[in-house]
Amino acid sequence: MRAIRRYPDAEAVSRAAAQDLVEVARAAIVARGRFCVALSGGSTPRRMYEILSEAPRWARLEWDRVEFFWGDERAVGPDHADSNYGAAAAALLRPLGIAPERVHRIQGELPDPEDAAGRYQDELARVFASPADGLPPIFDLVLLGMGPDGHTASLFPYSQALTERTRWVVGHHVARLGKARITMTPPILNRAAEVRLLVTGPDKAGVLREVLLGPREPERLPAQLVAPAAGRLVWMLDRAAAAELPADRPV
Ligand code: 6PG
Repeated sequence: MRAIRRYPDAEAVSRAAAQDLVEVARAAIVARGRFCVALSGGSTPRRMYEILSEAPRWARLEWDRVEFFWGDERAVGPDHADSNYGAAAAALLRPLGIAPERVHRIQGELPDPEDAAGRYQDELARVFASPADGLPPIFDLVLLGMGPDGHTASLFPYSQALTERTRWVVGHHVARLGKARITMTPPILNRAAEVRLLVTGPDKAGVLREVLLGPREPERLPAQLVAPAAGRLVWMLDRAAAAELPADRPV
């Protein structure tokens, strides 16, 4: 199931996404005793993480029942300015004092991104207590963003990772970046119970219209691959990003 939620600006998207995460987390903790979330990288979720770091002031949530993962990582160490882990640690994990054993980061610093991917799949299998060669585990919530080229996580247009059918995580060289990335794959992203795609800013309006309303071309528009089989997908958009979507009818 897909839903589109529109907000006036990026701050409103961040506030709504933070509130939404707390609600999904509470429901997961009641139902399963813990909440497993895959965080997104990039700049869009940073304000949301900041708002969540203030959560103890506005929301009751047992943070010691939350397991943190990442949907993707750059091939850098945890202290590097480009690290997705590093950004979330600074804006959210450290301010909340999250215990290290609940933080499962991708080892972007490893020389071989495929090795980092394999180790991350093992870590996922360990924490979810599911066989590493079986079906991917089910995240309670996966947060994603989208680039102006239609990529999501580190699933870039025309990249090998797009056609992965069994592995949960892959490491690959992204030609257009000239760099390696480690990313969760469509099989695990689409097993999630809840997926949120946060997209803000005018530079994404055109590609967003193509992704949502255009012909199906996932090779060129990888965000089209995000379609949870049994879960719920919610696009959370600001007015600028939604500018080219029909205002008067559901998308
Ligand atoms: C990353 C992300 C990536 C990001 C988009 C959007 O590691 O960069 O996982 O998929 O979500 O590139 O990035 P912005 O939020 O910075 O526009």
